[in-house]
Amino acid sequence: MGRGKRKRQIVGHGDGVNIPAALVEILRWSERIMVLTGAGISAESGVPTFRDAQTGLWARFKPEELATPEAFRLNPRLVWDWYAERRAKVRLVAPNPGHYALAAMEKLAPDFHLATQNVDGLHQRAGSRRVWELHGNLTRVKCFEDDGPFENWNETGPLPPRCPRCGGALRPDVVWFGESLPESALRAAEAASQKCEVFFSIGTSAMVYPAAGLAHTAKESGATLVEINTQETPLTRQADFFLGGPAGQFLPELVRAVWPKAQI
Ligand code: OAD
Repeated sequence: MGRGKRKRQIVGHGDGVNIPAALVEILRWSERIMVLTGAGISAESGVPTFRDAQTGLWARFKPEELATPEAFRLNPRLVWDWYAERRAKVRLVAPNPGHYALAAMEKLAPDFHLATQNVDGLHQRAGSRRVWELHGNLTRVKCFEDDGPFENWNETGPLPPRCPRCGGALRPDVVWFGESLPESALRAAEAASQKCEVFFSIGTSAMVYPAAGLAHTAKESGATLVEINTQETPLTRQADFFLGGPAGQFLPELVRAVWPKAQI
């Protein structure tokens, strides 16, 4: 079930949070589910997007002056401070019902995979155990020279701190503009997208590749494509189901409709 052609169903938020019966039926019979999330799933937690965070002192910088290897080479302290501020903001927010619903889905669906473009770590904080972080994670750092990751580091001395192994500068463990995505996570996400019966594209503008390509891979392999977004995107025309509204409202309803005993 779940593979093959069907008419697109569009549910607007104005209709209430109604989950189409046909989608519930497909999900009840599907084993392999793949989910891709973007900034929209964290919007209801109050995580500012990169551009939204560029207020005050930061407003005068172009994104490439804050989020490229060249920028870090040129002004490591500036780039460190920008990410330190974003890290501090993310520590103050909490996962929302959308994150919790996906954590519940991981426990309920027989073969469930989640990839995210977000760097805020909120899926893990909501209880998701396996998450492919395609753009890294703000709450970790890695060495600019030898690439080794660290979860703890010392900020008492000059910033950025130095790598205890090689003395190189530590940088945030996120994917900057012009850098490649972590290869093993991307490959695993591509394989899961190829095999899944249902693919969810949630809270992403579906415009930043290669992550955006996962939905096309799934669709070409015959999966049912479900998009949850407050706005239409370039992917909407291809979606079998478009749930037009906040992920934090649609996802818990969807999980309860498919798995009535779910605890969210
Ligand atoms: P964007 O900020 O480009 O898009 C967020 C999407 O979420 C938009 O389509 C919104 O309509 C939608 N949205 C907003 N609130 C929502 C809600 N409550 N529920 C559902 N949808 C909602 O973010 P991404 O698509 O994640 O890359 O951007 C992808 C990548 O582009 C980011 O990871 C970042 C950026 O450049 C890097 O930093 C490498």
